[in-house]
Amino acid sequence: MGHANSSTLDDLVRREEVVFLARMTKSTELWRRAQQSMPGGVTSSWANSRPVPVWVSHGVGGHVWDADGTEYIDMHGGYGVNVVGHANPAIVDAVRQRVGLGTHFAQPTDDAIVVAEALAIRFGLPLWRFTNSGTEATMDAMHLMRAISGRPLIIKIEGTYHGHHDATMVSIFRSADQLGPEDEPYRVPGPGVPQAMADLLRIVPYNDLPALERVLQQHRGQVAGMILEPMLMNAGIIPPAPGYLQGVRDLTRQHGALLAFDEVKTGMVVDWGGATRLFGITPDIICLAKALGGGLPCGAIGGTAEVMAAIADGRYDQIGTFNGNPLTMAAARATLTEVLTPDAYIAAELLGRKMLQGSIDALIANDQPCYGAVFGFKGSVVFHDRPATNYREFLAIDAAVSHCHFLVQHNGGVFLPPWGKSESWTLCVAHSDADGERYVANVTRLGQELTCVTQRSSDIFTNGVFS
Ligand SMILES: Cc1ncc(COP(=O)(O)O)c(C=O)c1O
Repeated sequence: MGHANSSTLDDLVRREEVVFLARMTKSTELWRRAQQSMPGGVTSSWANSRPVPVWVSHGVGGHVWDADGTEYIDMHGGYGVNVVGHANPAIVDAVRQRVGLGTHFAQPTDDAIVVAEALAIRFGLPLWRFTNSGTEATMDAMHLMRAISGRPLIIKIEGTYHGHHDATMVSIFRSADQLGPEDEPYRVPGPGVPQAMADLLRIVPYNDLPALERVLQQHRGQVAGMILEPMLMNAGIIPPAPGYLQGVRDLTRQHGALLAFDEVKTGMVVDWGGATRLFGITPDIICLAKALGGGLPCGAIGGTAEVMAAIADGRYDQIGTFNGNPLTMAAARATLTEVLTPDAYIAAELLGRKMLQGSIDALIANDQPCYGAVFGFKGSVVFHDRPATNYREFLAIDAAVSHCHFLVQHNGGVFLPPWGKSESWTLCVAHSDADGERYVANVTRLGQELTCVTQRSSDIFTNGVFS
């Protein structure tokens, strides 16, 4: 259903936004009311979206309903959390049984042992502690690396997000002109983070071993460790180049620096044993969160016996009132031992590959540049001609088309994460071929609409990061 009159991409975005808004009477009403009691009218700034944040009523399996009563296939997955699906009976049962027995003691319950043991088998690191979020997990990882080594500096990949604590809220969501020279990127602190904190990091591009080696040599004896997502997940999906993770492992070892994988997004999602198992490289520390709690807030940090000895002997106190909360441990146990079986990953990846192939075929048929990736429950279709290999290349991807894709999918009954360019789809164990076909049908409509667009540049979107 092409529109002969859509001359610019902005026209297309505006038209889809009008349709979107017209469906959001209740969401708009709730948003207006919420603005009186919550800044921006949302519970977290990233729950916002353009043109209006979508308020949700409930979810079952792979589907959610918005406050206006419209049903969607949910591939947003609560920012990559809900691979178990909504109200999964195994999770509901585990939580129901636990909730009647008391939900908080700040003393461990036996489910925590089952969860730690399951994580040790999946990820190949023996010892685990718990947190309540990914932010807390990466914060612990960075504290640990410094506490163990006594060194100040940590190496971080340009453009990657590791949570919102001071130690790592640096050089993310920046436009190209803020990044500085490629061989010596600026350390740009996020709002509220002092430059002094940013200066404790060294920023290197992803997939660039010579840059990493240069920084390690320049700061010999000063680098406590390196934190990285083994596969970039907040810049679409950028997989590691062949040999990159092995090179990172070797270089950090040579320089006596610890290596922490941030698997907050990838863990339990791209593979049964996360990116660690998928790529066969084991770091010293792994950070988990998101999918671990089966929809409840839960994070974890795993480590080698050597690293975790620092916690056991008190060199580093890994603490938190809610760590290992009985309710979240019950949900995590059911997630790991009942729902996310090895077969679940195979089924999700098969569905994802069909979605990707169908989408690419439709876009090529409409002469649209595209590529994509699928790993387990995660996947993405990118409206660009060449796969990005690092953050700077990712910035070149058109933000307006990505937003338009979000709108077209939403208007067509598929709920994707709002910030289209950075995010990817998250499938769950309940999704079916019919759900995948709906996604492909929406991509096909977008491809047809885009053939009528004569001007791709956008006035309402700069190529910023969020959009
Ligand atoms: C890679 C990565 N690390 C850490 C975090 C922070 O996790 P949380 O939002 O649970 O604090 C996120 C959140 O999106 C993430 O994507």
